[in-house]
Amino acid sequence: MALHESDNIRGGEMKGPDGKELRALWFEGDKIVFIDQRRLPYRLEFFEAKTVEKAAEAINDMVVRGAPAIGAAGAYGMALASVTGKNIDEAYRMLSSTRPTAHDLFHALYIMRDAVYKKKDTVKAAEDYAEDIVRRCRKIGEYGAPLIENRARVLTHCNAGALATVDYGTALAPIRKAKEEGKEVFVFVDETRPRLQGRLTAWELMQEEIQHSIIADNAAGFFMKGGDIDIVIVGADRIARNGDTANKIGTYEKAVLAYENGIPFYVAAPASTFDLKIKRGEEIEIEFRDEREVLEFQGHPLFGEGEGAENPAFDVTPFRLISGFITEYGVFRPEDLGRLFELIKKEAEG
Ligand code: MRU
Repeated sequence: MALHESDNIRGGEMKGPDGKELRALWFEGDKIVFIDQRRLPYRLEFFEAKTVEKAAEAINDMVVRGAPAIGAAGAYGMALASVTGKNIDEAYRMLSSTRPTAHDLFHALYIMRDAVYKKKDTVKAAEDYAEDIVRRCRKIGEYGAPLIENRARVLTHCNAGALATVDYGTALAPIRKAKEEGKEVFVFVDETRPRLQGRLTAWELMQEEIQHSIIADNAAGFFMKGGDIDIVIVGADRIARNGDTANKIGTYEKAVLAYENGIPFYVAAPASTFDLKIKRGEEIEIEFRDEREVLEFQGHPLFGEGEGAENPAFDVTPFRLISGFITEYGVFRPEDLGRLFELIKKEAEG
C-alpha cells in the first residue's frame, strides 16, 4: 500500500519507521505496530502493543479491524504471548473473546496455537501468516479484475481494503487490479454507519488515485435504481458452507437492492473467512457493540439525553442474493462452493 498522509502532508509518500511501505500492522522488535484506524483520515498515528493484553485491546477497540487484519493481529498477539512467556491457552482465550464474528481471527489463533505446541518460531509463524494473507488478496485481485469492465461503476460497503487485510484488500483488490490493468473505475463508497469505515475506503482510494464518491448509506438504492451502479463488491467476516455471508451491517440491504435492480453482487474473501464448520448463516454469532457508537460521533452526542440504541455490527446476506465469491482460488457461484471447499481441503492437506 503506497500511503500518503491525506491531511497535512497530502501527496508525500509515507514510510514506516524502518523505511518500508506501510501496512495496516507489522511486528517490529518486541512489539506489534498498528496504524491506528480510529484516527484516520485526520491523523496517521500508530498504536503499539508489547503484550497480548494490548493486542486484544487493539482488536476490541478497532484500532485494527477487518476480518483478515484482525486475524493477523491475533497471530501476532499469540507470537507476543509466546515470546513474553504468557500462558498460551490464556492468550488464546483473551484474543478469541475480543470480536466474535470475523472467522479469520479464530483461524489464525488455531494455526498459531499449533505453532506454539510444535515449538516453532512464533514470530516467524505470525509473519508468514500475514504474508500469506497478502498473497491471497493479490490472487483475489487477479480473479476479480475481469468482472470489472472498463468505465465500470462499483459500489462497496465498509472497508475491505489494505487496512482491513494487512495490505491490498479483498473487495478493493479487483478494483486496484483493474486500475493497474489500465481500466477506468469509479467507486461509490458507502459511508457505513455507525463507525464510518467508508472514510477508510475513501482514504485508501485517494492514495491509489482511484476516482470515487462517498454516499450516505441510504443513498445506495437511489443510485442503483438510477442505473449508476454496474457491480457491487463487498468483503466478508464469516461465510457459512451454503454461502450465507456475514459482513458489515447494511450489507444485506445492499444485496436486496442489487437483486431488485438486477445488479451483480459479489463477495470477495480468502479461504480463512469461510467457516467450514457451519452450514448456514443462522449459526453465525453477530457482534453487538456499544450503543454509544450510534448515539455519539467521536465523543459528541448526536441525540438527546436518555436515548438508547441498538448496534449490531454485522448482518447476514443469504446466498441466493450473491452472484459469486471472489477468492484466491477463483470465482465461485454459491452452488459451486463445494468445489472451492475441495480446493481448500487439498491445500490444507499439503
Ligand atoms: O467492524 P469491522 O470494521 O471490522 O468490519 C469489517 C467488515 O465488515 C469488512 O467488510 C470485512 O471484515 C471484510 S475486510 C476484508
